[in-house]
Amino acid sequence: MGENPLSAGGGRRPRAGTRRLLVAGALGALGTVTALAASVPAGAAAGTLGAAAAQSGRYYGAAIAAGHMNDSTYVATWDREFNAVTPENEMKWDATEPSRGSFRFTSADQIVSHAQSKGMKIRGHTLVWHNQLPSWVSGLSTTDLRSALVNHINNVMGHYKGKIYAWDVVNEAFADGGAVGTLRSSVWTQKLGNGFIEEAFRAARAADPNAKLCYNDYNIDDANANKTRGVYNMVKDFKARGVPIDCVGLQSHLSQGSVPSNYQQNIAQFAALGVDVQITELDIGGSGSAQADAYRRVTQACTAVPRCTGITVWGITDKYSWRSGDNPLLFDGNYNKKQAYTAVLDALN
Ligand code: XIL
Repeated sequence: MGENPLSAGGGRRPRAGTRRLLVAGALGALGTVTALAASVPAGAAAGTLGAAAAQSGRYYGAAIAAGHMNDSTYVATWDREFNAVTPENEMKWDATEPSRGSFRFTSADQIVSHAQSKGMKIRGHTLVWHNQLPSWVSGLSTTDLRSALVNHINNVMGHYKGKIYAWDVVNEAFADGGAVGTLRSSVWTQKLGNGFIEEAFRAARAADPNAKLCYNDYNIDDANANKTRGVYNMVKDFKARGVPIDCVGLQSHLSQGSVPSNYQQNIAQFAALGVDVQITELDIGGSGSAQADAYRRVTQACTAVPRCTGITVWGITDKYSWRSGDNPLLFDGNYNKKQAYTAVLDALN
C-alpha cells in the first residue's frame, strides 16, 4: 500500500560475544579451590533469523497463512528461518466466531500445532478490531455487544490458553488524524465508549493470566506523532491505574523512505513505561540496498532496546504479501534471500 498502508519478556539476556565458562573444582581435603576460567568464543555467526535473534533472547517470527501450508517451500522456509509465528488471518473474529456463539478454530489450530511441534513462540492476533468483524457484531445492542466481547475473549483465549506468548488484545483503535488521544470511530466506541479498550484488557487478563497482553497499531513508529502520543498516554494511564497491559506492538508497515529517524527512541520511550515492545507486522516496501538499509535500521533499533523482545515480519515471500507490488518482505517470489534478508541477519548477529 505504498507510503504506509495501515501498521514483549523481561530482562536482557547476555549477548552472544564472548561467553565465560567458569569451572570450579574444590579439593576438599586440602581446602584448595581451583578455578579455571576459559574464554570460549561464541563461534560462527548464526545462519538463520531465528537462531540469530535467539542469541539475545529474542524471537524472529513471520505471519503465516494456513492456506499456503500446502506449499512445501513456504513451510520449509518458515521452519528453517523463524522461531515464532502470527496467524495472518485465522484468529480474527470473522474466522473464529463467524456467527454468534459458534466458534471455529480449525485453520488457526493448523498453524498452532505446527508451531508447537517446532517449539516456536505464537502471537495471537487479534481479539478486538474494527476490521474482519462479522456483521452480526455490529448489529448488537450495547448490552449484547459487551457480553459478546467478553464471551469472544473468553472462548478464543480459553481455547489457546497456555499456548500463546502474546495476544494483540486490541488492534488499531486510535485514529490517524485529530488531536492526541482520538480513537477511531467504530462499533466499539459508538456503543461501548472509549472504555472498550480497558474492558477488553481486563477480560483478557482474566481469560489467560499467562499471556502477555499487547496493544497493537500502525503509524505509531514516529516518537512524536500525535497517534503515537495517544497510545503512549494510554499505556501510561493503564500502568498508573493498574489496568493490565504488558506490551505495545508496532506493526511497522513501512516503506524504505519512511522509517522515522527517531524509531529507536520511540521503542525506548514505550519500554520506559514498563512494557515490552514488539515489532509485530514488519514489512518495508522497496528494493535493493535502500530496502536493506531500512530493514537494518529497524532491526538495530530493536536490538538496542532490552525490552524490544522480538520482531515479526508480515509474511515470508513477496509472492504472498498482502502488499502485492510493494515487494516488502525478506524473500522474493522464488524464496531467494533478498539483500534485506542479509541486512537483517547481519544486524541480528
Ligand atoms: C491483513 C492480512 O495480511 C490480509 O491477508 C487480509 O486480507 C487483511 O489483513 N494490520 C493488521 C493485520 O493488524 O491483521 C492486517 O493483515 C494488516 C494490517
